[in-house]
Amino acid sequence: MSANTGRNYGLQPLGVGVGLRRPHIEQVIAETPDLPFFEFCPENYMDRGGKARRNLLAVAERYPTVSHGVGLGIGSVAELDRVYLQRLKTLIEETGALWASDHLCWNRADGRSSNDLLPLPFTEACVRHTAARIREVRDFLDVPFLVENISTYTILPDPEMSEAEFTNAVLEEADCGLLLDVNNVYVNFRNHGTDPSAFITAIDPDRVGQMHMAGHDDRGHVVVDTHGAPVRDEVWALFREALEHTGPTTVLLEWDSNIPSLGRLLEEAASARVIYDDVTGAAVVAAS
Ligand SMILES: [Fe+2]
Repeated sequence: MSANTGRNYGLQPLGVGVGLRRPHIEQVIAETPDLPFFEFCPENYMDRGGKARRNLLAVAERYPTVSHGVGLGIGSVAELDRVYLQRLKTLIEETGALWASDHLCWNRADGRSSNDLLPLPFTEACVRHTAARIREVRDFLDVPFLVENISTYTILPDPEMSEAEFTNAVLEEADCGLLLDVNNVYVNFRNHGTDPSAFITAIDPDRVGQMHMAGHDDRGHVVVDTHGAPVRDEVWALFREALEHTGPTTVLLEWDSNIPSLGRLLEEAASARVIYDDVTGAAVVAAS
């Protein structure tokens, strides 16, 4: 299944939401905070029945949802995991998730798998290989599919193109969307010296169907993508640039460690919404 082309990869811009995290799920069901959607991590639910899955479905009855996986390893050379894909498809059908996403990375080889999202080589061969797999996954899941640019700590040798060129080539060849993680762009700038603004403006804006915002751990010599701290000012500034490039979209604040209270998460979402409304409202005025 392919989404329509056009702005926001043909997907409805949902505005600013937060990730569904286990410490908050019962509070979300009970209090139904004013949020436009929730993003869930399918690996937290796909192998489970019982209370965890019931809670997810209760959230999905109350809010639009989107699925954001970490286990596909779409660029791996190893065979696609059919059991994983079937479980993911079932969960997407049960929740009615509007779209699915995972990362532009690899994670498996020689019967072993990594929990880390590993960097792909920026080569023509890798574009063709990865795009073919994305098409296969997208057609099987039968929902629009987005890949996310990852944060990396090394660039593989002998690249044939830049990360932005590689990303655009995969999106075009696979006819899929991009989940633009703005914090990952910043982390790669700090770790590799790549120009974050140039990366964002080089990306085809019509392919961006969602954004991620997150915090990182700045250790001076290296920046680690922890999702365990508030969004830094430098990343908020880049968020503004990204929105100016894409226009209205769907934005998610990601926390995966040191998860704060739901109230604190909602405050951060409100901060994001101020920038979102400022930039996308200005875009509407400019267009009229
Ligand atoms: Fe992300």
